[in-house]
Amino acid sequence: MDKLGIGILGYGGFARFLHQSWSQLDEVAVVAAADSRAEANPGDMRFYDDWRKLAEDPDVAIVAIASPPATHAGLAVSLMQAGKHLLVEKPVSLSAEADSERLLHARDKAGIVVAVNHMLRFHPLLETFQSWVRDGTYGPLRHASVENYAQDETLPPDHWFWDREQSGGILIEHAVHFIDLVDTLAAAPVVRVTGAAADRSTGQRDRVLASVEYEDGLVATHYHHFSGLNSFEETHIRLAFDKLRMRLHGWIPTYGHLHALVDEATYELIQALPNWTERTLAPLDDGKARHFAATGESYSATHEVFGTFRMDQSKMEVYADLVRASMLDVVKAVRDASHKVRVPLEIGLSTVDVAERATKSAVTRD
Ligand SMILES: NC(=O)c1ccc[n+]([C@@H]2O[C@H](COP(=O)([O-])OP(=O)(O)OC[C@H]3O[C@@H](n4cnc5c(N)ncnc54)[C@H](O)[C@@H]3O)[C@@H](O)[C@H]2O)c1
Repeated sequence: MDKLGIGILGYGGFARFLHQSWSQLDEVAVVAAADSRAEANPGDMRFYDDWRKLAEDPDVAIVAIASPPATHAGLAVSLMQAGKHLLVEKPVSLSAEADSERLLHARDKAGIVVAVNHMLRFHPLLETFQSWVRDGTYGPLRHASVENYAQDETLPPDHWFWDREQSGGILIEHAVHFIDLVDTLAAAPVVRVTGAAADRSTGQRDRVLASVEYEDGLVATHYHHFSGLNSFEETHIRLAFDKLRMRLHGWIPTYGHLHALVDEATYELIQALPNWTERTLAPLDDGKARHFAATGESYSATHEVFGTFRMDQSKMEVYADLVRASMLDVVKAVRDASHKVRVPLEIGLSTVDVAERATKSAVTRD
């Protein structure tokens, strides 16, 4: 089968990673790039200094939009009108309120495939945890907490990241990954969003917080901190179910600590996690079922277990796999009209909506 041609719009840091990752796929070939900076020319394929020429290139079936956030919605509408299928980087827009109608209308009119690159949706660990939520295996998920300490050594004050007109701010530019991740674990809609923020003396808003409440009682807290040296960079995602607590490590999680109350069947599911390593397995009542009523529910379990799990691949290998899976999902939808992309515009927009509400609610000191 012929490879589908990809054009990358905005050939900066992330685009280079996408290009490298996709070059290992048989289904696609990156055939062209466009960037307003002539020096971004990678030199090994067609290059346009005006994205309109990419829109006219007949060899480009799918455009990956990887320019800064403020450009995404407008470019996406124009490219849809040019008949290109799209994989748009997150955030799909800076304002769901302002852009939803024109984006959805353009997609439906053009009849093309559009996905947003919330690639964490393809994370294999997440798929396991989603099944636990769906089946109520360890009780309801009550709290999800994201603590993300990122570095700003590579983000000088004049970088577009700090300019809210360009990026939307940290909640819209970055937290959307995790708002979306928790959303995939939520069994109910969002009912309330609040935010907080702190600015450093130079006016850069470098620490932000969002709390997202779901109709079934799940509370998610998202803290993002872009202030520190690379050596302090760390991300933890805690998930608190009634019968299981977990701490995932890394913003692309590859390993985690877990503590659970189990019976034979739920213990087997934990043992199936990658490279599961048990620290403790303790019987509760000589291995007989103990009934307990904490959390307002009644549960039973035979053992308490502590341990860790770890994926075989490195963070960068998982990251590359995720962006490949995201692109392959678009390819599948282009080839087969019955296949629906996993992250359609509607999901990208509702995630921006949550981040936008948290941003508006965040009031900082003067
Ligand atoms: N999904 C992820 O994990 C992930 C990771 C990093 C970045 N991103 C997203 O990727 C996007 C790009 O981030 P980056 O770090 O690569 O930024 P970057 O500044 O390194 O690259 C952006 C490029 O876009 C070009 N550009 C800007 N406006 C343009 C226009 N109108 N036409 C053509 N080119 C234009 C710039 O010249 C630059 O080369 C952002 O939306 C960011 O949020 C996503």
